[in-house]
Amino acid sequence: MNINAPVPVGVLGASGYVGKELLRLLAGHPRASVAFGTAETAAGEREQGVELLRIADAPIASAEVVFSALPHGVSAQYVQEARALGKRTVDLSADFRLSPEAVYGLTEVTRSRVATAELVANPGCYPTAALLALLPLGRAGLIDPSREVVIDAASGVTGAGRSLKRELLFGEVAEDFRAYSVGNEHRHLPELKATLAREGGFTGDLVFTPHLLPVRRGILETIHVPLTRGLDRAAAEAIYESAYADEPCVAVLRGAWPSLKDVVYRNRVALGVAAVANVQRPRLTVIAAIDNLVKGAAGQAIQNMNVMLGLEETAGLPC
Ligand SMILES: NC(=O)c1ccc[n+]([C@@H]2O[C@H](COP(=O)([O-])OP(=O)(O)OC[C@H]3O[C@@H](n4cnc5c(N)ncnc54)[C@H](OP(=O)(O)O)[C@@H]3O)[C@@H](O)[C@H]2O)c1
Repeated sequence: MNINAPVPVGVLGASGYVGKELLRLLAGHPRASVAFGTAETAAGEREQGVELLRIADAPIASAEVVFSALPHGVSAQYVQEARALGKRTVDLSADFRLSPEAVYGLTEVTRSRVATAELVANPGCYPTAALLALLPLGRAGLIDPSREVVIDAASGVTGAGRSLKRELLFGEVAEDFRAYSVGNEHRHLPELKATLAREGGFTGDLVFTPHLLPVRRGILETIHVPLTRGLDRAAAEAIYESAYADEPCVAVLRGAWPSLKDVVYRNRVALGVAAVANVQRPRLTVIAAIDNLVKGAAGQAIQNMNVMLGLEETAGLPC
């Protein structure tokens, strides 16, 4: 066996926004090759030189690692089929994110568990940015559990997937900006709460309000954090710098706040902080930016695959 031969990987749902991004990144990966890609309505089309097959025709056995970029609710069945064939699998849908069957693949936090996992549940895009912003504070016992953490987040339109939806037509979203899932009802909330409790020891309330931003890709989150004690900006930055000193995919900006330009097409979360003036009780504002399709989906999935295979963690990824 040639140990330097590329690892064959399969992509389920390769005609969606996330699947296309997986194929794009895998095309530049030094140690992986695409064994197959699947599509439903787009079966027969080509993407990155790969002819997309119907899922029933996918040669799952030919892959060593399978990515599923299928819609949630559809993914679980095909992930189980790949697992039954002994394939190590990274599921990008929400289907296993709360399941003990899978390792939650927030790479910076669960790296050692990802390395030996047979099934990785890739985190959601909003949770990836929010968790990397909140976990260092939670682990330091700095978040006041008697007050709410408030997350106001805005995502580009690719976050909603590629299937046709009237409310996502150009004529509906262009030059507009709106909130959705208002009232703390977004489906990412349980994943956020569970991971913040498990990995960061914070069990207080989170209030999460997403917005639809009329750009193609990128998420910006403004996170309002009630603190147990006052922290000035330099002290807060030092906490993040120490937590992420050795992390190539987390950028802590000193004296600046990130914008989408800091992250699009990159496998990174960018973070910036400010102490909040003119309030009676201590607070921090954390700004987090991420490309929903890269570190928020396909890039992190490849980062996890690299860890699973013992490859350089950032192989094929622009961080
Ligand atoms: N978009 C994001 O920013 C983002 C971020 C993190 C995680 N995710 C998750 O990643 C997954 C993919 O998201 P996406 O935005 O790429 O969605 P999408 O653009 O709607 O793509 C879905 C893919 O699944 C295929 N598909 C749909 N129904 C199918 C069925 N019944 N059987 C077989 N294949 C089917 C589609 O094929 P056709 O198009 O050919 O019909 C397409 O390839 C979702 O679970 C989503 O929650 C998305």
